[in-house]
Amino acid sequence: MNKIEQIRSQMPATTNIVYLNTGSVGPMANVTRDTLHAAVEHESQYGRASIRNFLHIKAQTPLLRAQMGAIMGVSGDDIALTHHTTDGMNIVIHSFPWQPGDGLMLTNWEHQGGYLPAFTAARKNDLTIEIAHLDWHDSAADITAKIIAAITPRTRLILLSHIMWNTGIQVDLTAIVTAAHAKNVLVLVDGAQSMGSIPLDLPATGVDFYAVPGQKWLCGPEGVGALYVRPDRLNLLQPQTVGYRGLSAPDAYDLSGNWLPQPNASRFEIGTAYRPAIYAMQANLDWLANAVGWEWIHERISSLTAYAWQKLNALDCVNMITHENAGSGLITFDLVGYDPARVNLALIEQNIVIRYLMQPYALRAAVGFYNNEADIDRLTAALAQIATLDPESLPVVDY
Ligand SMILES: Cc1ncc(COP(=O)(O)O)c(C=O)c1O
Repeated sequence: MNKIEQIRSQMPATTNIVYLNTGSVGPMANVTRDTLHAAVEHESQYGRASIRNFLHIKAQTPLLRAQMGAIMGVSGDDIALTHHTTDGMNIVIHSFPWQPGDGLMLTNWEHQGGYLPAFTAARKNDLTIEIAHLDWHDSAADITAKIIAAITPRTRLILLSHIMWNTGIQVDLTAIVTAAHAKNVLVLVDGAQSMGSIPLDLPATGVDFYAVPGQKWLCGPEGVGALYVRPDRLNLLQPQTVGYRGLSAPDAYDLSGNWLPQPNASRFEIGTAYRPAIYAMQANLDWLANAVGWEWIHERISSLTAYAWQKLNALDCVNMITHENAGSGLITFDLVGYDPARVNLALIEQNIVIRYLMQPYALRAAVGFYNNEADIDRLTAALAQIATLDPESLPVVDY
């Protein structure tokens, strides 16, 4: 067995179907599933809470923070374990020391996971939402320049995705952070589509805050994400959602309302975690780092995405929205004359999983490290076949 076959043999969803939807949720490896099952089984047999269980989870969480941090090039001390990307976005946006009238800048291509906390914070703190408007035809360089140009004297925080979920374009994070810092503006990044899909070295970018999921490109269980807080920004944030896990010691509070937070980013962790998911994520990250290898993963995503882009672009019936070499594993495109939601469903009937987006109303394939050329060929063959059908004959998506 060659390496890719070996990996696929360890991730059942990759051989049972053509799975091209890691941008939503990644396929789970056997080791991750087995660890999850074993932890649930053990707890059901021997009880979920005991001093031994407590000591075990207490010892394991710093190790998971360190594993998450290693993928971003940072220390585990600068990581808070969260539930998902949106959790991390909420923590930073609501803990930021806002003054009425401050500007919170976003692009028009953010996910609801960034927009909704921003809109809520704006209402609560009387902020001005500033939007950097990006266009479908913009290159990565255009986008980076537009974001920098949209900074105003009011701007205090920029919220943006490292990789745009709707076009797959990767921004030049270092350039944006450098320009922002020169104007005393901090940067919060939505890393939902970048964590695990591209190499990350956060200290080299200077970024202030970076929120990531575990269930997408890391292929982990749901419920375990992470938030990076640059150590010199830690005390700038005033935690708004707090709980016992964020205390420096179990009794580090008094009834006059004083309490001592953890000296590191774990102060943003709140209450009881789902232990099986924590253990499964540890096993998962260990497998990715040691059995698969990060360098290999990133190279594979990059080369297979180039192959997929060429194959899709070669179809007359397809209109590419994502530029060539956009810098991620996401490819957005249109099957010209066909309703994306109905094409999505027609593909599922052929055991091919991608997704459709609302903005742009189009199809999106996410190329994972576990995919092979045959997966891409099956997708393009299916699209070419669907393009011979009457658009009205496709199944209807009925919510
Ligand atoms: C760019 C982006 N941000 C945020 C999210 C939401 O992610 P999570 O469920 O991890 O909060 C997604 C998921 O689709 C996304 O693509």
